[in-house]
Amino acid sequence: MEIQLWREILAPYQLAVDEMMVKFKHLQDEYRIAGTYCPINKVEGRVKRISSILEKLQKKNFTIEDVEEKIEDIAGIRIICQFVEDIDVVVNLIRKRKDMEVKTEKDYITNIKPSGYRSYHLIVLYSVETINGTKTLPVEIQVRTLAMDFWATIEHSLQYKYRYNMPDVIRERLNNAAKAVISLDNEMSSIRNEIMDVQNSYQLKSSIVGEILNTIQNLYKVANKREIIKIQDEFYNVYMQSDINALERFSKELDIIAEGYRAQAIQ
Ligand code: GTP
Ligand code: MG
Repeated sequence: MEIQLWREILAPYQLAVDEMMVKFKHLQDEYRIAGTYCPINKVEGRVKRISSILEKLQKKNFTIEDVEEKIEDIAGIRIICQFVEDIDVVVNLIRKRKDMEVKTEKDYITNIKPSGYRSYHLIVLYSVETINGTKTLPVEIQVRTLAMDFWATIEHSLQYKYRYNMPDVIRERLNNAAKAVISLDNEMSSIRNEIMDVQNSYQLKSSIVGEILNTIQNLYKVANKREIIKIQDEFYNVYMQSDINALERFSKELDIIAEGYRAQAIQ
């Protein structure tokens, strides 16, 4: 097939990947703004390379005409979570969305593949607008933890290295590593609450600090320099105390001061 034709076929898939990446990254932003723990650690996306598509067609005995009909992972999104529990949260977010229709789901976390591979897979139907009108495409979304991702990445490169003849010793090592990943994920789950608390308070702290700095910056326009320097010194003192309640109190007091200046400005 002409390279030009490939480009035309693949363009809408690239659009789907780009749009979905933006959407998932905005979900991360929403959690950050709300100051709460985000179940999405990282979002990755890719369009399958032409050589990989050809390889898959050959492996499955499909013809080039089958590409759009039968290959469902041309567009791929990978969502990496910190904890196994986050995977359910992310999958539920996807199920509820109006802009993605879940076509199939495969739970390789409950049903681990013989290779040791674990992840939650969804094929969703997603529509993009092109110069030729609306196109509805399948997109494969893989949801997995950092540990599962680590394992899959290593196993994938070894698969590639040995093609389909992986030595038994390597297979066995990978199987052991897969078991280690399961126990690592379990360990992490058992301290999930502690880690989430730390991350929540970190996010809360950075959003309060952001607000304070913003208010101080605005005060520069209206207050006198000496007062601002005094406020800044106080802020550094409170900040150094590493006490979230003290920071919150300071932020409220600062708001009252800023409000006073606003009232003066209006008069
Ligand atoms: P294929 O893409 O040909 O495997 O189609 P399928 O219908 O069998 O889908 P499956 O759900 O088995 O796999 C889809 C994708 O998951 C693959 O393209 C890989 O990215 C990933 N995957 C599945 N199994 C493995 C595995 O054993 N190791 C690794 N590293 N990745 C896997
Ligand atoms: Mg497969």
